Amino acid sequence: MNTSTHTSTHTTTHLSARPRRSALYLPASNPKAIAKARTLAADIVILDLEDAVAPEMKASAREAAVAAVREGGFGAAEVAIRANGLDTEWGADDLAAIAGSGVDAVLVPKVSSPQDIARFNDALAHAPAALQLWTMIETCGSVLRLDAMGAMAASTRLSLWVMGTNDLAKEMRARLRPDRAPFLPMLGMAVAAARAHGLTILDGVCNEFRDQSVFRAEAAQGLLYGFDGKSLIHPDQIEPCNAVYSPSRDDLAWAEGVIAAFALPENAGKGAIRVDGKMTELLHLEEARRLVAMAEMIARAEATQGIDA
Ligand code: COA
Ligand code: MG
Repeated sequence: MNTSTHTSTHTTTHLSARPRRSALYLPASNPKAIAKARTLAADIVILDLEDAVAPEMKASAREAAVAAVREGGFGAAEVAIRANGLDTEWGADDLAAIAGSGVDAVLVPKVSSPQDIARFNDALAHAPAALQLWTMIETCGSVLRLDAMGAMAASTRLSLWVMGTNDLAKEMRARLRPDRAPFLPMLGMAVAAARAHGLTILDGVCNEFRDQSVFRAEAAQGLLYGFDGKSLIHPDQIEPCNAVYSPSRDDLAWAEGVIAAFALPENAGKGAIRVDGKMTELLHLEEARRLVAMAEMIARAEATQGIDA
């Protein structure tokens, strides 16, 4: 299940309501990007040691990532470090450094099986209990073993998945195009598996960071499929992504109507009622409460960041 060091003071909010709308990657080898990330409104910052960092920069990027976490300054954002795989020459050193860094989460690449998740989890045996394990869904093997991998959430630190559509495209030899047709079946299955096992799930990146209309359409497609948020590669993608993944005014009006209707004395003890001419069940009440809780957390985070809602 989701754990978070940041929600403990808000006893009335659902853990699953923590906004994870936007997750910005940046190469940990790029000090300008790290400085910039501290000024941005991404819900998650991912300091990358893997594909965005050249081999000769791996060791210095690792040091820079740990130093950046220790220095802090990322506001309300959760911070993750993406490690190299355990089958690379850098993976073990990455995990050891990350385990002692105080970061919120370690994101690990190219896992394809429950055994792969167990290896990473074992490598973190001595890390603080609050350190979460997040994994990429980016190999063909991983999309074929989603259910078994998701089940690992019950016995490990696993709490979140990130789709890695660039690597999936490469392994499948599929083409990336704006409608993402080749990937739609696995996007839907990955969301279903994440929900079945109580994981948060983030959509893959949109490489087109200069074309806002392509980005907005892709972000909206991810929302339609049920993702909690989207991984991003450029600061310009944050605001549109947060907008797409925030509960809309209509969503909130619906949610407040549902909550109010279930609170009426004549509806006490009922499982299904009529709201605005539609059948509305207790499962809708749960979703309504989640939306309201998320909107409250977003408003609180924006207030602390001094950002206009
Ligand atoms: N995080 C934080 N800051 C970023 C950033 C990111 N992901 N991408 C760009 N910036 C900063 C730049 O440093 C620059 O800062 P400045 O105004 O202080 O000079 C500013 O935003 C504008 O950058 P821009 O010129 O538009 O982009 P670029 O051509 O320098 O970089 C990329 C383009 C794609 C190389 C860069 O966005 C990037 O490295 N993205 C992340 C890649 C990554 O982590 N991939 C792994 C996961 S898929
Ligand atoms: Mg990848």
